[in-house]
Amino acid sequence: MKRTKYVIANWKMNGQKDSYKLVKSISNYHKKMKRKTSKVVICPPFTLLSEFIKKEKNIKFGGQDCHHKSEGAYTGSISAKMLKSINCQYVILGHSERRIYQKETSQELNLKIQSAINNNLKVIYCIGEKLEEIKKRSIILKKQLSSLPKKIEPKKVIIAYEPVWAIGTGKVPSLNDINKIHKKIRNILSNLVSPDFSRHVSILYGGSVNAKNSADILNLNQVDGALVGGASLKSKEFCKIIDSYH
Ligand code: PGA
Repeated sequence: MKRTKYVIANWKMNGQKDSYKLVKSISNYHKKMKRKTSKVVICPPFTLLSEFIKKEKNIKFGGQDCHHKSEGAYTGSISAKMLKSINCQYVILGHSERRIYQKETSQELNLKIQSAINNNLKVIYCIGEKLEEIKKRSIILKKQLSSLPKKIEPKKVIIAYEPVWAIGTGKVPSLNDINKIHKKIRNILSNLVSPDFSRHVSILYGGSVNAKNSADILNLNQVDGALVGGASLKSKEFCKIIDSYH
C-alpha cells in the first residue's frame, strides 16, 4: 500500500465573507492538474466551513479544533459531532498554537482524538518541538505521539510534524533533518502503535512551507505532504505547492 499524500491548508484565524474565491481558484487549478498526486484539504475558520462544504465538492475540508464532548455547557466550543453533521471530513488537533495559547494537554488531546475518530473525522494530529527543546526532541515527540489511541488504523489519522520554531518564521530544518526526523517519528510509532501503522500512516511536514521550498521538501522519501499556514492564503503560491511533486 502506497501512503496517501496530502497538501493541507491551515487558514488559522483568517478568512472573511469573500474568501470563497480563494477556495474556487484553488479548486479550479486542482481540477486542471493532469497528475493529481496529493489530496487537497482546506481548514478554514468554523464560520466558513459549512458554506464551503456545500459549494465546493472537488476539495475536502477540515476544522481547526474540536471539543472532546459531543454537546453540553461548553460556551464557545464546537464538537466533532457538530463538524460531522455538516459533512466535514477532517480536523486539525494539537496544533502548537493551541497547545501554547489554549494550554491543551496530552490527556485532553487524547480525548479529542478519540471523539474525532468516533465521529468519523480524519485527524490531522500536529506534533513538534520548541526551539529550547531541540536537544530533547525525541522525548517531546514521543510524549506528544502517546496521545494517540493504542489501537488506531493508519487511515484514521495523519501526523503533521511542525517544529514550533519553524512556524511562520521563514526558518526550516535542513532537508536531511526533515527526512531523519520523519523516520524517527515512524520508529516511535512502530513501538507506540504498531509496525504496520508506522509504515502506512501519512506524515506531513509543516512550518514555513512556501512555493520556493515545497518541491524539495515534498519529494523527500519520508515526507507524505505538507501542512501550510501563511502560504495557503495566497492562491498562486498555494497552487504551486500543490504542484510540487516531480
Ligand atoms: P506556516 O504555518 O506555514 O505559516 O509556518 C504552518 C502551521 O502552523 O500549520
